[in-house]
Amino acid sequence: MCGIVGFVGKQEAAPILLDGLARLEYRGYDSAGIAVYSPQDGLRVVKAKGRLQNLAEKTNGGADVHGCIGIGHTRWATHGEPSDVNAHPQLSESGRFAVIHNGIIENYAEIKEFLQEQGVTFVSQTDTEVVAQLLDHYYKDDMLDAVVKVLHRIEGAYAFGIVCEDCPDRLIAARKDSPLIIGYGEDFNFLASDVTAVIKHTREVSYLDDGDIAVLTASGVAIYDSLLQRQDKARHQVDWEVSAAEKGGYEHFMAKEIMEQPEAFRKTISPRIQEGAVVLDGLCFDRETLERMDKLYIIACGSSYHVGMVAKYTLEKLLRKNVEVSLASEFRYCDPIVTERTLCIVISQSGETIDTLAALREAKRLGARVLSIVNVVGSTIARESDDVLYTWAGPEIAVATTKAYSTQLSVVYLIGLYFARILGTVNGGEYAAILTELQALPEKMEQVLAQKETIQYYASRYFNHESIFFIGRNVDYAVGMEGSLKLKEISYIHSEAYAAGELKHGTISLIEPGALVVALAGHTPLFEKLMSNVVEVKSRGADVLGVTVASRGAAMEKAVDGALIIPDTLPMLLPSLEVLPMQLFAYYVALMRGCDIDKPRNLAKSVTVE
Ligand code: AGP
Repeated sequence: MCGIVGFVGKQEAAPILLDGLARLEYRGYDSAGIAVYSPQDGLRVVKAKGRLQNLAEKTNGGADVHGCIGIGHTRWATHGEPSDVNAHPQLSESGRFAVIHNGIIENYAEIKEFLQEQGVTFVSQTDTEVVAQLLDHYYKDDMLDAVVKVLHRIEGAYAFGIVCEDCPDRLIAARKDSPLIIGYGEDFNFLASDVTAVIKHTREVSYLDDGDIAVLTASGVAIYDSLLQRQDKARHQVDWEVSAAEKGGYEHFMAKEIMEQPEAFRKTISPRIQEGAVVLDGLCFDRETLERMDKLYIIACGSSYHVGMVAKYTLEKLLRKNVEVSLASEFRYCDPIVTERTLCIVISQSGETIDTLAALREAKRLGARVLSIVNVVGSTIARESDDVLYTWAGPEIAVATTKAYSTQLSVVYLIGLYFARILGTVNGGEYAAILTELQALPEKMEQVLAQKETIQYYASRYFNHESIFFIGRNVDYAVGMEGSLKLKEISYIHSEAYAAGELKHGTISLIEPGALVVALAGHTPLFEKLMSNVVEVKSRGADVLGVTVASRGAAMEKAVDGALIIPDTLPMLLPSLEVLPMQLFAYYVALMRGCDIDKPRNLAKSVTVE
């Protein structure tokens, strides 16, 4: 939920830290700060409420803050409202230590009380300040020793960057449950929440594991495990371009990422289709293993959960096996029925969502095998899964996911075909037909995206509505869930998605003249059923924006106030096309409402606190 970055090298640190924070701002953006050490100024801390731009203005782009070692933080507030004093870095009372933190210290209150009884004065409402004050408490003359003592005392999730005025040649990084990477340079080194902050300077990174502690100097990095045993951490080369994490001429990252979806889809499926068959990255599931599986349990949050809703329909149809879908935050606490015969499919763009990670760990504790679908290479969920299938969407910066959602869908289809082939639950003709249509989807996606002006027109008609309903059946309902979330999270319009057949069981009481209903009817086997729901809401005065496939376009256009027509495809693959108008509709509505599309209020890209 926050972005942290640290630098130690031969160059002025402040501008480098600000640039890194700008690339991490999607992780949290209600306040920011840096702490830089120089022999002439000592440890200097500058913080600013609001967007990073405020901090940049306060420091003249970093030029007014001198020193070659420092840490920086961009915040999504958990404890204490956004303010200068609650922004990180948090300082110890002595001024000796500065700390940046992503995560939550769960026992901070008792530690704070203990330290206050020792006479320590706290200045912020944050949980993080107890770390800085505790460092003071334990520090004698060894920074690493003090850090280790603090790590043994605190409970919770953390990615720390720590600088100490007495040891101005080194930074210390430590992680538990929150992501933290090391970036290596010739005469500099970085710590950061993710690679986007460092890729401009280095492609060589290590992903720290829970319990790891790293000591960074300009000349090298020493990484220790929780027992302070020195480790040779694997080093990885990041393979995507810096431009992939930049806007490339688009007004918003979200617009760019919407338009990147056909290419991201191609990149994700193409290497996994060879000579007419799906091959999956070294997965080893044989027929006996799959036949022994008595349940597939899909676990995710947010939009990834909506992919799971689609996956239930897809995988049950292809595999004829029981598929359950659960919100990760519910799964953890519902005493789930999971055994060693359960295959858990965990879906996460960031690979760091704390609810999803905790659910993964619970599933493994219960004996399940875990296959994850993840976009961020080397993320915690990827590394803790038994098998991982990466979506090759590239870095997704906009808080509202689009290309990751689409590529997650593509991996779901591939998994379904791959398992169905092994289980023999689809015949050769069905398999080939689905595979052929799957490979035709990117071009059809481009046809849908080419309608963006039409979608923008409808957005202009409806952007002032204060409540919008999405209705659908089967996979249309799952897409409606995603369309509703997209609209809510970036335009702040209240919205809900409903299984169309449920309307008459209560919600239809909310339909009144002028209400806007987005009716999703791309799933042709249920088209007539959905159109009867359109009549129901129309007869109560609703405006209806209908979405369907070309073969049903004429029927839809006669019945509704506005129609968005997408190319026909197999019902199973429909979500990949039908979600696109939903994304664009939300985008243009938010644009017309003047919302901050890439950084919506109250949100952050990766939810790494419970
Ligand atoms: C989607 O637009 C939202 N940003 C959010 O619902 C997101 O899908 C959810 O937090 C899960 O994130 P993950 O895929 O990184 O686990």
